[in-house]
Amino acid sequence: MGSKKTFTMIKPDAVSAGNSGAIIKMIEDHGFVVNAMKLTQLTTVQAGLFYEIHKEKTFYNDLVEYMSGGPIIPMILGKDNAVEDFRALIGSTNPAEAAEGTIRKLFATSISANAIHGSDSNENALIEGNFFFSNLERMK
Ligand code: CDP
Ligand code: MG
Repeated sequence: MGSKKTFTMIKPDAVSAGNSGAIIKMIEDHGFVVNAMKLTQLTTVQAGLFYEIHKEKTFYNDLVEYMSGGPIIPMILGKDNAVEDFRALIGSTNPAEAAEGTIRKLFATSISANAIHGSDSNENALIEGNFFFSNLERMK
């Protein structure tokens, strides 16, 4: 059955394009339950910490700039096999390679402005959910 929860955020490009509602609708239509959600904006320091794993990559500075450049909508999502199923729903990092019907295929405009994040493991889902939500904000 796999994991029960994953973490996602709708990225600044998709929020500013007015695609948040359509993306949340897709997420719910695929059986995910929204356990926590808010609209917020990262500082460059926070975005740098969130993506620390990529700090040696050539795209790191641009990524931090982009991710702190506008509002985002982080969410904790519940579903059986949540992590794996959600990665399938968002599609490949590069929208040009993303499968038809995936969120990135539909809403991403480039490999960097790719509409949405999805945790890649149970461990990271927990770390990333805790990064944005307090114990009180998280639902059971
Ligand atoms: O988000 P995902 O796990 O699919 O990809 P990643 O390899 O963990 O990269 C994190 C994020 O960095 C991506 O979602 C893109 O926003 C950005 N990125 C980029 O700007 N240029 C790349 N060549 C690769 C990733
Ligand atoms: Mg990743």
